[in-house]
Amino acid sequence: MPSGQSRTLSDIVSVAKDKYEESVLKLIQPNRLPQHIAIIMDGNGRWALSRHMPRIFGHRAGMETVRRTLQAARDIGIEFVTLYAFSAENWSRPKPEISALMHLLQEYLRKEVDELDSSNVKLLTIGNISKLPSYAKRELDCAIERLSKNDGQKLVLALNYGSRDEIITVAKRIGTMVANGEIKPDRINFKTIEDNLYTKGIPDPDLLIRTSGELRISNFLLWQMAYTEFYITETLWPDFSRVEFFKAVLEYQKRDRRFGCVKASS
Ligand code: IPE
Ligand code: IPE
Ligand code: MG
Repeated sequence: MPSGQSRTLSDIVSVAKDKYEESVLKLIQPNRLPQHIAIIMDGNGRWALSRHMPRIFGHRAGMETVRRTLQAARDIGIEFVTLYAFSAENWSRPKPEISALMHLLQEYLRKEVDELDSSNVKLLTIGNISKLPSYAKRELDCAIERLSKNDGQKLVLALNYGSRDEIITVAKRIGTMVANGEIKPDRINFKTIEDNLYTKGIPDPDLLIRTSGELRISNFLLWQMAYTEFYITETLWPDFSRVEFFKAVLEYQKRDRRFGCVKASS
């Protein structure tokens, strides 16, 4: 067989995919990137069930998508990526699923910390992480410490995160400050709230990506997403590709963000 014919179908598909990815990438305008992308990684369970596999199989596959997506985000220079990894409401799932998710978190951090470090990634969290099982919390503390000197991309993991819980915490803190005479009620303003959120110092998300087609935000960053652009795709999280990530950014770049104003030309 002539050597030109020895390419397999999968080689051809892979070359075509690379070319397609390259052509999508070329359309992204580097001067109009979202500074912060938040992602609701949804659909792992449905992905697994459609393959007659346990839900946990979908969560494991989803871990690979996390790796791929963070790499894609680094490749185009996204400064902040927030991943909704475990919500405050997810504790009501069956115990074995919760345990599998916590062990996957531990495994992910253990396996990825070297790569994250060599990519200069800093790790932050939002949510009440003190309630995580001790083995997961230990791994998380180690990874945060190990990556603390880095000043490249900020990876924010939302763990045991619930926006309503966050807002209640803020109300309690400000209430205490008022009771202690540290602030007068009529001096409470935007900054007082911002400074007491888990996300203090993190800019609001410019773009929210939600996979699996659900049209809701599931108690995620309610305050912070007041002016965020939404990209919702039917793709289930384990199938979410680099190209689709780039397409979401392209879609974002087509949006006209007005923040309540009118365009200068109107
Ligand atoms: C998202 O996938 C992962 C977490 C919530 C941790 P799901 O487990 O919610 O998957 P579906 O929505 O049931 O398909
Ligand atoms: C949101 O997904 C939470 C995470 C992705 C961690 P859920 O699957 O828990 O949300 P609902 O139940 O569809 O709203
Ligand atoms: Mg879900």
